[in-house]
Amino acid sequence: MTSPRIVAVTGAAGQIGYSLLPRIARGDIFGPDVPVIIQCLEIPPAMNALRGVLMELEDCAFPLLEGIVGSDDPMVAFKDVDLALLVGSKPRSKGMERNDLIRENGPIFVGQGKALDAVAKPDARVAVIGNPCNTNCLIALHNAPGIPKQNWSAMTQLDHHRAKAQIAVRVGAHFRDVQNVVIWGNHSNTQYPDWHHATVAGKPATEVVGDDAWFKNDFIPTVQERGKAIIEARGLSSAMSAANAALDHARYLYQGTPAGQWTSMAVYSDGSYGVPEGIMSSFPVTCKGDGTYEIVQGLEFNDFGKERLAITVKELEGERETVANLLD
Ligand code: NAD
Ligand code: LMR
Repeated sequence: MTSPRIVAVTGAAGQIGYSLLPRIARGDIFGPDVPVIIQCLEIPPAMNALRGVLMELEDCAFPLLEGIVGSDDPMVAFKDVDLALLVGSKPRSKGMERNDLIRENGPIFVGQGKALDAVAKPDARVAVIGNPCNTNCLIALHNAPGIPKQNWSAMTQLDHHRAKAQIAVRVGAHFRDVQNVVIWGNHSNTQYPDWHHATVAGKPATEVVGDDAWFKNDFIPTVQERGKAIIEARGLSSAMSAANAALDHARYLYQGTPAGQWTSMAVYSDGSYGVPEGIMSSFPVTCKGDGTYEIVQGLEFNDFGKERLAITVKELEGERETVANLLD
């Protein structure tokens, strides 16, 4: 029998955690034949709620679930992990932008980075979901020098799904027929959702939609502000769709992106597309299924795209400045 993969989930008693845990236990990340051990991290005031969630997880009697751990100590929750999904942090509420959370949430990722460095498997993968996720990921990565920079990513998969869905709905196509949108930059309202390389049932999305003004005036702001629209409607931030995106993000890392397709992930910039090194920026990536990714190269940018990319990169550089004291 394959040996179990160990996955840590932080903020496991929260909204996203509630949707995430059962699907990890069903094999949604590593596949239907790979057993998993789930190690949950919470803060002390949420440990009772976590106890209840873990009772429910036990009551699902998942065949692949080899073990469950719940702790408020990162050195316990991150012990020997193959994958850590860093969700635990405060969500924004109505009227806030995601980077308004930076001062409160940023420090969480110092301690968690150090703990991962100390006790996770040296080739562990870490995906950050808690906002502002690009910069939180940068903080954790800086505090875990023993884990290679290429092993870290932050989640823009939800924005990627949102972009696909907006195009599908606009032209009456199925979601699965829309491929190769790109999210560039920050998981914030400066992100650049790029439709220029997207296809709908194999045809260029630009031709199928045939309305550049719609892309610029509706598509971009809708994708950028979708999180806010959900908070306004639900009174709470997205959780089901966020958990679903986190599972796809991790599944692509471990099972690969489909042939001929890419996805979007915020990764440590290597200078591709002129994005300065040393920030976590979203790029189009392909994954082979061994935990690695490659940034898709050679995509063309028009002047509009160049301007949009510059705006979101500038914001990421500003966030890095704000948290400079957490990066040592
Ligand atoms: P939630 O408030 O329901 O749950 C967060 C949980 O994290 C709580 O149970 C809390 O006790 C726990 N927590 C807080 N600090 C912690 C710490 N230091 N260690 C471990 N756990 C800690 O929030 P949620 O709806 O699950 O959202 C979690 C985060 O994910 C938020 O920051 C939200 O903005 C973000 N998010 C990101 C995306 C994305 O696309 N990247 C999408 C949705 C939500
Ligand atoms: C989202 O995109 O839904 C999340 O990042 C939550 C938020 O604050 O928008």
